[in-house]
Amino acid sequence: MLAKRQKTRHWRSSHGDRALRIGHVAFTSSGYRDRVTLAQMTPRRFRDADEIIDHLRQLGALGSVEADNFTELDHGLQTAAILRDVAPDDSELQIAGLVHDLAHPWDGPGQPRHATMGAIAVRDVLGDRVADLILSHVPAKRYLVATRAEYASLLSPDSVMTLAAQGGPMTPDETSEFERHPDLRAMVELRIADDGAKIAGKVVAPLATYENTIRELAARHVGR
Ligand SMILES: [Fe+2]
Repeated sequence: MLAKRQKTRHWRSSHGDRALRIGHVAFTSSGYRDRVTLAQMTPRRFRDADEIIDHLRQLGALGSVEADNFTELDHGLQTAAILRDVAPDDSELQIAGLVHDLAHPWDGPGQPRHATMGAIAVRDVLGDRVADLILSHVPAKRYLVATRAEYASLLSPDSVMTLAAQGGPMTPDETSEFERHPDLRAMVELRIADDGAKIAGKVVAPLATYENTIRELAARHVGR
């Protein structure tokens, strides 16, 4: 079904698997049911830290449209790594960076709903702040395009393409409202890290680095 309506091409992932990329999603040659279960392809609400960590591992088999030899997990890890440098004491922001695009496999061309799907998916486990930061990464792009002249020139071709589907630059009224948000600094930092996290082959800290923090956040939020 997906293959019929979206552009496809083959590539080789950074993990050495031959994979098929369909829009934002790539399937390994061993069959996506082996590496990416149908559950991973369906929007869901995670119930605990293990489910989120497992989903992130699966993103290591999904090619990102941002670059060749570059997976959705690579993108999340690079975003988190930038935020570890920028905001070393803000573990929630780092985790938000790691998971901000975890709904990419669930959305369609232009990714108009992935931020909302991602926020819904993690809110019960990672808490409101991480979920709201995920929600903000699309409006933050619209905000930065509207307020920083140089920002638009730094966007990747894919990000420019999706901007129109996401509403284009913010209006002055939208900009003023966005600036009143108490977490504005973190929202902007996440977005800038996101835009800088598209470098194929860059070596950063692995997923294991963040697993304890994901479990700590889950211990604070699950069942509350
Ligand atoms: Fe992203």
